[in-house]
Amino acid sequence: MLTATQQLAWQQDGCLVLPGFNTLQEIAALRQRALEIVDCFDPMESKTVFTTNDQTRTADDYFMGSAATIRCFFEEEAFDTQGELKQAKVLSINKIGHALHDLDPIFDAFSRTGALAQLAADLGLAEPQIWQSQYIFKQPGIGGEVRWHQDATFFETIPITVTTFWFALEDATLENGCLWAEPGGHRGQRGVLRERFVRTDAAKNGVARSPVAMEKLDATPWPDASNAVALEVAAGSLVVFHGLLPHYSAANRSARSRHAYTLHITDGRSVYSPRNWLQRGAAMPVRGF
Ligand code: FE2
Repeated sequence: MLTATQQLAWQQDGCLVLPGFNTLQEIAALRQRALEIVDCFDPMESKTVFTTNDQTRTADDYFMGSAATIRCFFEEEAFDTQGELKQAKVLSINKIGHALHDLDPIFDAFSRTGALAQLAADLGLAEPQIWQSQYIFKQPGIGGEVRWHQDATFFETIPITVTTFWFALEDATLENGCLWAEPGGHRGQRGVLRERFVRTDAAKNGVARSPVAMEKLDATPWPDASNAVALEVAAGSLVVFHGLLPHYSAANRSARSRHAYTLHITDGRSVYSPRNWLQRGAAMPVRGF
């Protein structure tokens, strides 16, 4: 149960750090499973994304097809100019997504616990729906920057309810690209939704353009050094943040990786936009904890 102090911090800051949420054994099991998935992954499956002339099309198909499957995505800097991996495959993957929590028993068990169900309830998510899971590697040396954004951009509901659970699987520091956020940036004028990542009608009409696009909604500037704080957390910490909270992470130029696992959860009482990129059909309906 969240304490009154934690509830207040959640309301005020739009983010909450819960140190020691997971044991090192739980984390080790998840990391081991992620490595097994990468081990089984044939790079040719998505290498075409970087090496064919029809790059946008193949990248779009591979990405869109990951909504209800488990797929590996490379770091942008993983390949040399000849299209060959610059380092071992296991050090080249940016992330695994996006249905680990529904399709893999180890990830399902990690993602659906009584403690998480209680936490979701404490945060006001009466009918939690877990839309997406991602295992993020933030590889040493080449781990890419994730620019400032709000997660509601990708999971719009009316009203906005999307909440992110960010599990630190390794110590996250300034050196290896920890999260940055703007405390309170989910509220008031700062908390306006700036962008919306949505499906276009391209696929339906057979038009030669991307099936997804970023729509600009509001020109409110992103945080800067004056209002952003670094969220350096130890392995085992759970960072929870509001869907409108601006956050960012720098590239990892250090020699240490920064593994994390994330879940994106909405409240089933809000209306999930049919334009969101990630949709679930009747064959695999969205579920809670
Ligand atoms: Fe995010």
